Amino acid sequence: MNKLMAANWKMYKIYEEAKDTAEALVKLLDGKLPDGREVLVFPPFTALRGVSKKFKDEKGFWTGGQDFWPEKEGAFTGEISPGMLRDAGAAFALTGHSERRHVIGESDELVGRKTAFALASGLSVVLCVGEKIEERRSGALEAVLERQLRAGLADVPREIDPARLAVAYEPVWAIGTGEVAGPKEILGAHACVRRILLDIFENIGNDIKILYGGSVKPDNCAEIIALDNVDGVLVGGASLAAESFARIVLAGA
Ligand code: 13P
Repeated sequence: MNKLMAANWKMYKIYEEAKDTAEALVKLLDGKLPDGREVLVFPPFTALRGVSKKFKDEKGFWTGGQDFWPEKEGAFTGEISPGMLRDAGAAFALTGHSERRHVIGESDELVGRKTAFALASGLSVVLCVGEKIEERRSGALEAVLERQLRAGLADVPREIDPARLAVAYEPVWAIGTGEVAGPKEILGAHACVRRILLDIFENIGNDIKILYGGSVKPDNCAEIIALDNVDGVLVGGASLAAESFARIVLAGA
């Protein structure tokens, strides 16, 4: 299975900065992207088309939208549709990111609607799941993953092409804190996600990528990416500089 090395730029970078970073990334990785590695960048909406254009002729480079509204079109002021993301060059969309769940207040049910709608609209999806620190401390990790995955995937066709769906395990306590989950925690959570995917999708569940996210850096990525059931990473802060993200993309390859 290819490793998917993904960058979530969140609400950073105006248009020119995003284009410059994308161009620098392409240059740094020119001729170096190993077989079996793919690059995916989620820029802010305003920079999506610009970054997509920089990646257009690059094999194994993709862009995605950080969010969207699960309708084709209509009176949804301020929202953007999956079709509009595709029109701007996106092949992927994120759903269920912890900042949308816990800062914006998206419910498990809405995350599920979004995931199914994006897939039906022709986008591939990275569905994010992960527990808060108090949930981990109270022993609720598996229950949280089970709830978020079952709701998030409720309306996804069971015969989905597994290449179009990935799950990102991002423990909330490790996002933007510098506190990376240790190998034991990542192995345990990813094994749990795999078990649930197999239960939901049967054999197809083996081919759905599970990414790790939360304080991934150039210096810790090689160790993380080598772990069982880690099929890629989803990187925030350390993906904003092209040099740093290029080192992550190549880590341990
Ligand atoms: P950091 O890499 O900044 O911890 O962010 C992780 C994340 O939220 C990626 O979606």
